[in-house]
Amino acid sequence: MSGALKDHGLEVPGEVKTETLDLRGAGTALAARLLAEVRERLAPGRCLEARFDQDPALALESAALALRHRMHWTLTRAGPAEWRARILHRDDAPLRGITDLLARDHERLDRLFAQALAAANAGDLAGALARLRPFEEGLSRHMEVEDRLLTPRLDGDPDTLAHDDPAVIMLREHREIREQAVLARETAEAGDVAMLATLLGMLSAAMAKHEAREEQNLFPRWERALRGRDDAAALLEQARTLIGEGVG
Ligand SMILES: [Fe+2]
Ligand SMILES: [Fe+2]
Repeated sequence: MSGALKDHGLEVPGEVKTETLDLRGAGTALAARLLAEVRERLAPGRCLEARFDQDPALALESAALALRHRMHWTLTRAGPAEWRARILHRDDAPLRGITDLLARDHERLDRLFAQALAAANAGDLAGALARLRPFEEGLSRHMEVEDRLLTPRLDGDPDTLAHDDPAVIMLREHREIREQAVLARETAEAGDVAMLATLLGMLSAAMAKHEAREEQNLFPRWERALRGRDDAAALLEQARTLIGEGVG
């Protein structure tokens, strides 16, 4: 089958600006060129309508993986001789499920945290605190979803899991990260900006490692466990309510 395809629900929202990305003639460099172009040009509020002279599905999939699924794509024309794909930033695409919601929330929390760290490094205590408070609140809601809503249903009773099971590691890291976030906020409130910058530097490394591990090890496992469950939609709704309006 070739020609125009039915849209798979990846419609371009009204406020999103569409640009053309012409990758015809890329030959064997297609995957590398696609990744470089998307990395440079795709942002919230921008859509890339890409053109190809070879089947781009593999290159699109590997770019999405390399970008931790920040890009969502759909084929809008299947060749030969021409293929077309619509590429949207994750923030502009419809929510795909709980792990997509959590991944978007990781990014939102990372942004808040990066602003707090930049303020601390610039000696701006008030600026750091203004970000650390919503960060701590958001972190606690996010972990509530992972600890209480998902883990007991999808992984089983944490007390019966091996000590090196990814879910057990996650729960332990949540306690540590929460403690460090509280300590950082208290340090900011006490006015010690030098100590605050040090604490946030350490927390930044711990969070990056934690989120990457979670997305790699637990998200695929949760996705598998959710497939076919009658309460998948209800769980997503509960998670959205808990995480709040910040994402999705
Ligand atoms: Fe987590
Ligand atoms: Fe998470």
